[in-house]
This record gives sequence, structure tokens and C-alpha cells, in this order.
Amino acid sequence: MSAEPLLEFRRLRKHVGGRCLLDIPEFAIQQGRCILLSGENGAGKTTLLKIIAGLEPPDSARVYYQGKALPWSIARRHCRRHVVYVHQTPYLFDSSVADNIAYGLRRAGLPHTEVRAKVKEALAWAGLAHIAQRNARQLSGGEKQRVALARARIISPRVLLLDEPTASMDHESRERTYFLIQRLKSKDIGVVITSHELHYISSVGDVRFHLHQGKLHNDFDFPTRHDSRQPAARVFMAPNWAGPH
Ligand SMILES: Nc1ncnc2c1ncn2[C@@H]1O[C@H](COP(=O)(O)OP(=O)(O)OP(=O)(O)O)[C@@H](O)[C@H]1O
Ligand SMILES: [Mg+2]
Repeated sequence: MSAEPLLEFRRLRKHVGGRCLLDIPEFAIQQGRCILLSGENGAGKTTLLKIIAGLEPPDSARVYYQGKALPWSIARRHCRRHVVYVHQTPYLFDSSVADNIAYGLRRAGLPHTEVRAKVKEALAWAGLAHIAQRNARQLSGGEKQRVALARARIISPRVLLLDEPTASMDHESRERTYFLIQRLKSKDIGVVITSHELHYISSVGDVRFHLHQGKLHNDFDFPTRHDSRQPAARVFMAPNWAGPH
């Protein structure tokens, strides 16, 4: 694991509808490390992930890829090539789990035999081999998320952005997902996860941030809903924290 960030955004600003949504001095993603990002509904988490994935432009930002400053037009191409954004409710095609996972490789024109071998490995990795031929649209929420994760991983991204990956999961599905995220980290993939339930997912995170009024705060300055019931957590409340809306 390299100490130098793979991808870094500095002085990132984004306005929507006349209000400043994001005003972030520095956000760095390292290979093999996992950033956890919390924030109230509408705080800007998804928007931040979409900017990092090159799917939406910032108003302004300095972007560094492997330490090299790049104009947005170039940085965006690197982001699109190396960063994969996994939506909270992933869009799955009306076909089998295996077909869904194969999609990116087929699109890239890989030979059929190579696609088959990689899909087989990805199915085993995500614990989906037993449902490889089921229609992906008929799966449970947790299974769909795992298909989306396998589909993202198979194209070998350097960074994976997971938007609320465990929102619709039961305990067992969550545990499986954390296990998969640990394995992504061990393959040197940088991971960013947004979640309203960081107290569940904290075991996989190396860094925690809370997005509030456009700024990233050290998450330990902010109580989660879970922690806020405990008096000790109040000691760490930031002075400007108005509490959950
Ligand atoms: N293109 C846009 N035009 C106008 N407003 C936008 C646009 N994109 C996002 N917004 C607004 O920016 C705010 C942040 O949205 P975003 O989806 O990033 O929040 P979030 O933190 O992911 O919320 P949630 O926890 O509900 O997923 C919302 O108020 C949203 O309506
Ligand atoms: Mg969101």
C-alpha cells in the first residue's frame, strides 16, 4: 500500500440551486484504505461520490491523480476509468446474475472464455455461485447489492464508491458485505462508503467523516443517532452541531 493518495481533491466546491453544497479543502483516497462518510439526507454525500467518479463536475477543484495535478477535463477521464460508483439501488439488467456481472467485460471486448473464467471467479468471490442463473431483478435487496459489488469489482477499479451499500440488508447480508469490503481493501482498492449507519460499518473503515453544511468534519466530533443517546458522546459534539434534523 502506497502512502501517497491515489486520488486527491483540493478546494472542491459545488453549488446547487444557489446554495453551497460542498466546500471541501481536501479529500484524499488511498489504495487499500476505506473512508466512511456519514451525513444527513441532502448533505451532499451522493453528489461528492459522483464528482469523485467523474460523473458530475465540481464548480471548482484541484484534482491530483497519483500526485500529479490535472485539469478537470483530464482528471475526469482518469476518474471514469479507475473509479466505479455503485448506486444505492443498483440498476440490474433483466437477465441472469452471471450476465449482469459479465456486462463490463463483454463491453470491453474480452474473449468469451476469459469472460466466463472471470465471472466464475467473481460469483464465488461474492458468494453468488448458487444463484448465477437466477434473474437478477428477482433477487432480494441484499443479493442485488452483492451482484452490483461483483459487477463493479470484476472490471478491476482502483477505487470503489459504495453509496449506502448496506441500507436494505439484514444482519447476515451486512456481515457478508463487510467481509467483501475487507477483501477489496486487501487487493489495494481504495473504498469510500456512505452510510447512515456508521456504527454498524465502522469495523471496515480507516477514516470517518461527517458531511455537514458543506464541510467534512472528523466524524468523532459528531454523534451518530446511536451514540447520541449516550452521555459520553455529547462531550465530543462540535459547538455548531444542531443535532439531527
Ligand atoms: N443537479 C442538481 N440540481 C439541483 N439540486 C441538486 C442537484 N444534485 C443534488 N441536488 C441537491 O443537493 C442536495 C444533496 O443531494 P445528495 O443526493 O448529494 O445528498 P445525500 O447526502 O446523498 O442525501 P441522502 O442521504 O438522502 O442520499 C439535495 O438537496 C439535492 O436535492
Ligand atoms: Mg445519497
